Amino acid sequence: MPRHPINRYASTISLDHHLRMVDQLPSVISSQTLFGNDAPLQLEIGSGKGLFMQNASGKHPEHNFLGVEIAYKYAAQAAERLAKHNRTNAIMASGDAEPLLNKSIADQTLAAVHIYFPDPWWKKRHKKRRVVNSQSVKHIYRVLEPSGSFHFWTDVLEYFESAIEMIAAEVPQFGPPIPEEPEVDTNPIATEATTNLSPPPIYRTHFERRSRLHQIPVYRVRYDKR
Ligand SMILES: C[S@@+](CC[C@H](N)C(=O)[O-])C[C@H]1O[C@@H](n2cnc3c(N)ncnc32)[C@H](O)[C@@H]1O
Repeated sequence: MPRHPINRYASTISLDHHLRMVDQLPSVISSQTLFGNDAPLQLEIGSGKGLFMQNASGKHPEHNFLGVEIAYKYAAQAAERLAKHNRTNAIMASGDAEPLLNKSIADQTLAAVHIYFPDPWWKKRHKKRRVVNSQSVKHIYRVLEPSGSFHFWTDVLEYFESAIEMIAAEVPQFGPPIPEEPEVDTNPIATEATTNLSPPPIYRTHFERRSRLHQIPVYRVRYDKR
């Protein structure tokens, strides 16, 4: 009986163009090194199953997208979405985003950094594992282009409030957070679901979908590099 190597993901289509391990990425991350062009590059940290990567790369074909997801299985699922939708402007990398952010991305490289619903690490002794932390926010500011944006959404009020306070102290150059609104489809194709109700929501990520369907409050902000 053949044995599958650890981490193998049984995809029905080739993920060769859409999935890499973080340590197989170029030592310097840029649109040129990843995609061979100079389009603006956006980074998502903790992509989960990749709904944001799929939608954003389809909506903005003029941009490139790198998603980094530590759980190989989710990275592969996200890559499968990108492959199925023939996205040539988006790839997934499996591994820890923090060393990548700290060491492999030059100053002023990214048009945007996205962190949606990061793991909350509730216990006090585990909070240092949070991906939005005093080091990562400094690097996020550093790698953003002028007027680039950092999007941070969560359903954990304590994480949200402590992150806002920490960013104000660690990276005051960001200025105050800018509230973001949930998206709705303003041009829906008429369907039973849309004819007699308000426009349907567009979920940015799977966790946003889950929170909204369960009426769990979501806290959304963006910071623009000034
Ligand atoms: C709660 S899930 C949210 C997934 C997705 N952003 C969403 O909103 O549906 C958080 C994700 O971040 C990933 N993650 C946690 N730490 C990470 C790290 N250091 N680098 C990359 N991904 C990470 C987890 O594996 C998990 O898939």
